[in-house]
Amino acid sequence: MNFTDGLFITFEGIDGSGKSTQSQLLYDALNDLGISVIQTREPGGSIGAEIIRSLLVSGDTDRWSAETEILLFTAARRDHLEKTIQPALTKNQIVICDRFVDSTRVYQGVARADLRQTVDELHSIIIKKEPDITFIIDTDPEKSLTRGLARNSGEDRFEEFGLEFQKKLRNGFSELSKTEKSRCHLINGMRSKEEVSNDILNIVKDYAK
Ligand code: TMP
Repeated sequence: MNFTDGLFITFEGIDGSGKSTQSQLLYDALNDLGISVIQTREPGGSIGAEIIRSLLVSGDTDRWSAETEILLFTAARRDHLEKTIQPALTKNQIVICDRFVDSTRVYQGVARADLRQTVDELHSIIIKKEPDITFIIDTDPEKSLTRGLARNSGEDRFEEFGLEFQKKLRNGFSELSKTEKSRCHLINGMRSKEEVSNDILNIVKDYAK
């Protein structure tokens, strides 16, 4: 594979979809090929953004309104972009990021409230960056929620919104994959992790040709 410019790859999906496993497998595969790659996540991925993360992922579901969440996620994203993502892309590295603005579009813009336009407007003013490739890992909400809650991570504020919320998220991501066809790949995540990761690596290889 020949990458002369940085490449920004994101992973998206409902809670417990297995996207973190897949982003790790892609990172390992690219690393093994001798490609300069970093792995990061949202909310988080920089010192300041990790502090904001802890405010967002724990506590009662009604701790923040959807509007306040949009501001907090965007603040975290701006710091992450400045401190981690953009410097790596400038060095022509591949950046693999677990969640980015598509999560805000779907969690806050569709599932929490009808705020997609607000998310996009704020994004266009403060962030102004879209991924080159996005993998949306599509899974069954019931199984994924059980899996996510079983992790007992202490970071389950969004899982606490329940199954109907996860179903709305799944539809939201599926709709997004239709409107953002050029960069979004809806990946069937209800297969072995090896099958899923092979598909993903092949798409990245194709992109680099
Ligand atoms: P994670 O569990 O994938 O690390 O993500 C933390 C939670 O934050 C997850 O439930 C999804 C949620 N989230 C949003 O609601 N909006 C966002 O913009 C992002 C990045 C995450």
